[in-house]
Parts: sequence; structure tokens; C-alpha cells
Amino acid sequence: MANKFVKRIIEITDYQTHILEELRKGVVLTTSDAGRINAMAISWGMLGVEWNKPIFITFVRTGRFTHELLTKNPQFTVNIPQGKRPQDIISYLGRHSGRTEDKITALGLHTVESPNVNVCGIAELPLTLECRVIYRQTQDIEDFICAGDIPDTMYPKNVDSSFYGNNRDLHTAFYGEIVGAYIIENEC
Ligand SMILES: Cc1cc2nc3c(=O)[nH]c(=O)nc-3n(C[C@H](O)[C@H](O)[C@H](O)COP(=O)(O)O)c2cc1C
Repeated sequence: MANKFVKRIIEITDYQTHILEELRKGVVLTTSDAGRINAMAISWGMLGVEWNKPIFITFVRTGRFTHELLTKNPQFTVNIPQGKRPQDIISYLGRHSGRTEDKITALGLHTVESPNVNVCGIAELPLTLECRVIYRQTQDIEDFICAGDIPDTMYPKNVDSSFYGNNRDLHTAFYGEIVGAYIIENEC
């Protein structure tokens, strides 16, 4: 029988500690454009307030397929584990690129339509933030101050853009206004 899912609307403030704890371990960022859905692991991000709006900032290296999709369609969802962490899924999404494969299909993930953005949530990572990009800014290597070895270790010039880990590409900060938040649950 096909899975049926329902969405329970939540207040972000009730879950902010959980969101930040899971972020450090790795969560998922989902993007889409022209019918193509992609998801990648992230562990850098910020949850806060700017322009009097709740904001999630995600930092995506310029060479990621996700960066290309986010530039074309500036909306995303953040997909966060609740309960048991699906570590295998998160690791896979962090080591393979959507540029060469459809990761959602490869993993058999269940996508669930979002009410407020045109990017789906993922049932296997049920706590979902729906975000619309208000602002984006690509970081500049010249602007690192008192950064110690960060520029050299995080942006090694001899590592090609296609590598899933640290490589030569800088990050773009995408400031997403959180326009909705929900938990995907199985319909009883
Ligand atoms: C736990 C974990 C966290 C990651 N965090 C980030 C991140 O915050 N920003 C980033 O650009 N890449 C991050 N990555 C790397 C991307 O997930 C990885 O390069 C992925 O293959 C990119 O997918 P895409 O090419 O389909 O966009 C992380 C990888 C892992 C395993």
C-alpha cells in the first residue's frame, strides 16, 4: 500500500535547540528546478532573525549542483531528522552529486509537497523548514580576518570543485526567509 503522509504545522521556536543540534551532525537541503529535485547534506547553517523575519542561512559552495538549482529557483527546504537519524541517507546525499545522478530516486526517498514553497519535503527527514531566498552573498577570500588557517584548509586551491568535501570553491550564503515549518507524519 502506498504511504500517506500528513503535515503537522509547528512553531520554529519550539524546535530551535533540536534544529541546531541536528544541524551540527548533518541535515539535508532540498532544491528543485524545472521538475528536477535534488538533496544534499549540510552541516553549516544559521537560524536567526534579520529584517524582522525568521531566517535560515545555508552556506553552499559555488560548484555544487545545489548551488546551480538554488540560483535558478531561489527556494529550498531544510529537512531535519526527528527520532532516529537516517545517517546512511545523509551520508549518501553528502557524497554524491545530483549533477550525475538522481539521488532521491536512488535512495527511494518519499517526497511530500510543501504548502508554501515549490520545493518538497522528505518524509525520511520529517521536520521541514520552508524557505524563500531573500538575499545571497558569495564570500570573498580577501575578507577573511583573524581566520588562522581557515582559508587554506577550507578552500584548498589544489582540490577541484567536483570533490564533495573541502575544495577550492567559496561558499554562497543564501538567506532564506522561513515561510513555514511542519513535521511530516504517517497518516494513521
Ligand atoms: C555531513 C555533511 C555536511 C555537509 N555540509 C555542507 C555544507 O554545509 N555546505 C556545502 O556546500 N557542502 C556540504 N557538504 C557537502 C555536500 O553535501 C556534497 O558535496 C554533495 O555531494 C553536494 O551535492 P550536489 O552536488 O548534489 O549539490 C556536506 C557533506 C556532508 C557529508
